[in-house]
Amino acid sequence: MADFHRRIWIKTYGCQMNMRDSETLKALLQEAGHTVVENEAEAEIALLNTCSIRDLAESKAIGKAGRLLKNKRKNARYRVGILGCMASRQKEQLLKVLPDLDWIIPPQKLSEVPEIIRKTLENDSHKCIIAGIPEAFEFACYEQKLPTSPCRFVPIQQGCNMRCSYCIVPTTRGEQQNRPRSSILHEIQQAVADGVKEVTLLGQIVNAYFDKTSSTNFTELLHAIHAIDGLERIRFMSPHPAFFNEGLIQCYAELPKLCPSIHLPVQSGSNRILEAMRRRYTREKILQIVGDLRKIHPKIAISTDIIVGFPGETEEDFQQTYDLFDAIGFDMAYIFKYSPRPTTSAAEQQKTDLGVSESVKEACNQRLLSLLTHYSTCYNQQFLHTTQSILVEGRAHRGENRFLGRNVYNKKIIFTGTEDLIGTFQAIYIKKTSSSVLEGDIV
Ligand code: 5AD
Ligand code: SF4
Repeated sequence: MADFHRRIWIKTYGCQMNMRDSETLKALLQEAGHTVVENEAEAEIALLNTCSIRDLAESKAIGKAGRLLKNKRKNARYRVGILGCMASRQKEQLLKVLPDLDWIIPPQKLSEVPEIIRKTLENDSHKCIIAGIPEAFEFACYEQKLPTSPCRFVPIQQGCNMRCSYCIVPTTRGEQQNRPRSSILHEIQQAVADGVKEVTLLGQIVNAYFDKTSSTNFTELLHAIHAIDGLERIRFMSPHPAFFNEGLIQCYAELPKLCPSIHLPVQSGSNRILEAMRRRYTREKILQIVGDLRKIHPKIAISTDIIVGFPGETEEDFQQTYDLFDAIGFDMAYIFKYSPRPTTSAAEQQKTDLGVSESVKEACNQRLLSLLTHYSTCYNQQFLHTTQSILVEGRAHRGENRFLGRNVYNKKIIFTGTEDLIGTFQAIYIKKTSSSVLEGDIV
């Protein structure tokens, strides 16, 4: 009998949602009898889980797929698939640049990937399979058992209805769909039984979560998750400032497991640009949210996403963003240069004379980056000569016997330790800080 099991390599681009989708895919493929390899040279099948958020992410994946497809000349069994957001955005168009592709499978079809691969291998088909987008997302695939790990990303939503004028996500991931409360709680209960201590709830606008069947909103979901015995820490990303309400703010006072660190994507500090972005909030609302959160947790860590060079952004608009950053003092930020995305309304505007030059975008980027270095350095310094409780996550990238964990403020802390500490809480005395990391010793 022919053997349809293969060595498969998965490469992930983009956000945490993609990272989690790849982990789930790995588990599904292993269950179907395949071997998932870490080293791309050992693979007979390469799957690229792609991202469309900016042009650069797409070009990188196309380049990589082109290079991988060359392996087909040496190995007739070799196969390459494009998964993730590019697969839903570009579909057939991908075949124009990559005619030898074997699979184009959008993120909504995650649970069907092993079956699609099996069919191709059984039929020895060389025709590219372009999977359609189903109406409903199969959230149950996230209940697939994953390898033991102290922290888990838990998707609670797919897609987004907001249609911010620069963003391609509503096109690639579709309409907002909420994962049933029961499925979320079931996954977390199982995960905790398997040793997970910290969960990060994932979604495009987590605080717009609403499960119709159980009539559960986001704050109710947080309370239900908080009640799970054995779970120690809860985080979420990303909330949308427009959906912030008193109930959510109060969660920070009422739920001790909810970590005092929040990712609040503000995108711009100029009300004029926020309106053009269709963000549905003002800079005043951002200041209000931050003020309310700091009343509860004065040291709360606050990170953000900012886009510079949005079509029509003037020096004055940028100054407003700079001033907002300075007023809040974000301790972490992802600063993006605006990238026009096909089908978005902002990209249409860019075609008129509103586009900001690359050199101006770069200058704005640099100015915000230096402000960020200042605030992240200051924020991290407050931990110098203090003892921090960390959840040990694993080995650090560099250094023998160097391990890594995070405190409740989501700050990475590196220390010398042993493998058996992974998954435990440790008290670390901080001896050194920088803008990106803290270092110390076990007390
Ligand atoms: N150009 C640049 N950055 C973008 N983002 C989303 N779309 C674009 C775009 N077209 C950024 C936003 C979002 C983050 C995930 O990516 O800041 O919060
Ligand atoms: Fe994109 Fe806006 Fe939805 Fe975020 S809220 S995914 S930026 S459309």
